[in-house]
Amino acid sequence: MAILLRFFRRFLLYKAPLLLGLLSIPLAQLADVGITLLVGNSLDRAKDATDAEWIQTVLLWMAVYAVGHCVMRFYQRWLIVVVSRRVEVDLKNELFKKLTSLPFSFHDRSRSGDVVSRLTSDVEAVRMVLGPGIMYTLGALIIVPISLAILFTIQPLLAVLMVLPMFAMGFTMKLLSGRLHRQSTAVQESIAGISHRAQENFGGIRIVKGYSREDQQARLFEVTSAENRNNQIELGNARGLTNAAIHGSFDTTFAVILAVGGIAAVDRTLPVGDLFKFIDLTLKVFWPLIAIGWILGMLPRAVASGERIEELLDEENSIQDGDLKLDVSEIEGSVAFENVSFTYERGTRPALSGISVQIAAGETLGIVGPTGSGKSTLLNLVGRLFEADSGHVLVDDHSVRDLPLDTLRGSLGYVPQDSFLFSEAYDENIRFGADGEISDEEIDRLIERVAMKDEVAEFSEGKKTLVGERGVTLSGGQRQRTCIARALARNPKILVLDDCLSAVDTETERQLLGSLQAAGHGRTVLVAAHRLTTVQRAHKILVLTAEGGVETIGTHEELRSRPGWYADTWEQQQRTESLAQSIEREVAEAANASAGRQA
Ligand SMILES: Nc1ncnc2c1ncn2[C@@H]1O[C@H](COP(=O)(O)OP(=O)(O)OP(=O)(O)O)[C@@H](O)[C@H]1O
Ligand SMILES: [Mg+2]
Repeated sequence: MAILLRFFRRFLLYKAPLLLGLLSIPLAQLADVGITLLVGNSLDRAKDATDAEWIQTVLLWMAVYAVGHCVMRFYQRWLIVVVSRRVEVDLKNELFKKLTSLPFSFHDRSRSGDVVSRLTSDVEAVRMVLGPGIMYTLGALIIVPISLAILFTIQPLLAVLMVLPMFAMGFTMKLLSGRLHRQSTAVQESIAGISHRAQENFGGIRIVKGYSREDQQARLFEVTSAENRNNQIELGNARGLTNAAIHGSFDTTFAVILAVGGIAAVDRTLPVGDLFKFIDLTLKVFWPLIAIGWILGMLPRAVASGERIEELLDEENSIQDGDLKLDVSEIEGSVAFENVSFTYERGTRPALSGISVQIAAGETLGIVGPTGSGKSTLLNLVGRLFEADSGHVLVDDHSVRDLPLDTLRGSLGYVPQDSFLFSEAYDENIRFGADGEISDEEIDRLIERVAMKDEVAEFSEGKKTLVGERGVTLSGGQRQRTCIARALARNPKILVLDDCLSAVDTETERQLLGSLQAAGHGRTVLVAAHRLTTVQRAHKILVLTAEGGVETIGTHEELRSRPGWYADTWEQQQRTESLAQSIEREVAEAANASAGRQA
């Protein structure tokens, strides 16, 4: 409960609407009770009245109460609509900011579904109890005691008989609303399961069809759908039971009023006006009690959600700004690794151990080695996406830990291995990389520099074409080149390329590297690659061992003549390349020959 109070502090940021909302709750309830008393008393007065003049005064009061009641009912909802929705949005924004600021290591160990549910359903669970919850509870805390006090004053026995089924119903609601809530969560989860399965299948439709797995996938979908159906039925049962309990106790209460109150009215021991008050106040007490039962049932879930949200807000960000006051423009771009080792949180062995290598500003460092040797890991350490466990990563002789993150990351143009693009217009993906405004002409120059000019011109709306599901589907090589343009857009001092030319053909690669090197005049380039031609012209090449250590360092010429992984792999890749070229030649010759015969 304390945790929910801590969240309630956020409501205090919106003092004016909060105060108005809170004040209007008791006023609305008092006006409501006022109307009942007015009508009840008038009924009694009418019984013995000889003239009707007094009715005008009653109607006037009735109008005052009714208008007051309506206005207050309107403003009491401000608590839900204005305040709790604002707090909800604040909380979501704060969580989102926190999530994006947390280091890679956090995202590595969290499932994205779990993170999303904290942002959505957990925040909603807390909001429900704090917004509508407080509104209904406060309302009930006012109307229930006042109404009961009036009823007990009129007829204590009838009041006791009437209250019993009502409280039984409130208690039943508390029991049932827990079940209701569990079931509706299960329904939501199974709906999410259905859309997850559908998305995965349609996203991977090539694999499903390529492996002829349509029937198998359809069966799996049926299982997920059946789960959803069962959950929906269970939820329907829980709702049915709740409705039955509410209406059952409602009817019982009225049966009691009619039996006991009716007899008393016939015996003239209970005036008709009082009987009316019994019936009307019962109606007014009934729904707030249901609401309280409903809120009590939701409390455990809200407390659990609040804890999950707080856990995230309290998550420590281990990667903080360094103290050096240095601006991006002051960075020259030399990079050095000094005896660097690193093990992933969930890693069973070091991904990197004892790496030492340096590259001067404006030069190119190639990083190669078998798959899994730690190339991407090493590149990630430069921008502190992960933090080295020991040793130092230096930029311009400053430890990266001492630099402000904005300066460090602002001087890097990072092209990841997985070529991620946003589902936005093509040029927006490039703009994403730039720190300031960037003109259309500059975008065109970047597109040309990554050899995408002709391809972009063919998109239906040129560079304004949407990328992704609702727009153009880019090939692997196109995605890679676009990611390079995005990195170049910030004109970085250090360009970090993680195997980002693997999906382009050798000719485009040659063209691109030429263009990058021209662009890289005065720019440091760190480039990891599988294809050794990518690093062939690098000033220095670091060869990693399969275990994440340094096998050797040298230029292409030096490494070629030194027995080891590089020389072997170079030979093998050259053989494959020349084999591919001769096959291409033969196919072309055969095609020419057949064309000649047909002519
Ligand atoms: N997030 C992670 N958590 C745990 N281990 C990881 C993680 N990422 C990578 N590893 C492990 O660290 C090692 C180095 O991985 P890395 O991705 O740096 O290799 P790589 O040389 O870039 O491989 P590739 O050539 O396939 O791109 C591998 O053994 C890999 O399994
Ligand atoms: Mg890699």
